[in-house]
Amino acid sequence: MSDILSLKKTAAAVLVSGNGTNLQALIDNQQKNSDCPYKINVVISDNPGAFALTRAEKAGIKTYVLEKGNLKGQSLRDYRTRQIMEILRKEKTDIVVLAGFLTILSESLINEFPERIINIHPALLPDFGGPGMYGHHVHEAVLASGKKESGCTVHIVDKGCDTGRVILQRKVPVMAGDTPDSLADRIHKEEYIAIVQGTELLAKGFNKV
Ligand code: GRF
Repeated sequence: MSDILSLKKTAAAVLVSGNGTNLQALIDNQQKNSDCPYKINVVISDNPGAFALTRAEKAGIKTYVLEKGNLKGQSLRDYRTRQIMEILRKEKTDIVVLAGFLTILSESLINEFPERIINIHPALLPDFGGPGMYGHHVHEAVLASGKKESGCTVHIVDKGCDTGRVILQRKVPVMAGDTPDSLADRIHKEEYIAIVQGTELLAKGFNKV
C-alpha cells in the first residue's frame, strides 16, 4: 500500500545572487527524475539582474527579488533576513538551499530552520572559507597556497560563515598552469552533482521528521 506521506515532496526554496548554474542542476534533476524528493517552490534573489531568475521563470518557478526598502535602523542583513522569512512562511517552505547567495543570513532564520538550510561552497572546507571567500577569491587563494587539491563542499548553515557541519565534499585536482577560471570550471562540474545529492539528502531527512 502506498503511503501518502512518502509521495509528498519536500518544498525547497533556492536562494541565489548570480548565474544560477547550480539552481539549473536542481531544476534539471526535478524535471528528469520522478523520484526526486524535493520540489523547488520558490527562488529568491538579492540581485534583480541575476540570470538565475530567468532560469527559474523558464521552469515555471515562482521568483522573488529582495527589495532595497527602508532599513529603519536595521542592518541590511537583518532586513533581508526578515524579508526572506516572510516569503518562506508564506510559501510554506520546508528546506532552504543557498546556491551562490551572497547575503549572509541572520541568526533568526537559522533558528527557524535548524539543520534545514544548506550552502554550497567552491572549496574543501574548513579551508578557504569565511568572510571574503567567495567567487574567484577562493580559487586565487587555493592557487596561491600551492595545494594540489580543491573541490566543493555542501554544508549545513549555522551562525558562522562557512562553518556548519559538512554533508558532502567532491574533490578535483589542481593542475599545473591552472588559472582561477580553469579551476572554477573544473569545480563547477562537481558542484552540480554535489548540490543535487546534498539537497536530496536534506529533503529525504526532512520527510522523515
Ligand atoms: C558556486 O561556485 C557556489 O559554490 C558558490 O557560488 C557559485 C554560484 O554559481 N557559493 P552559480 O550561480 O550556481 O552558477
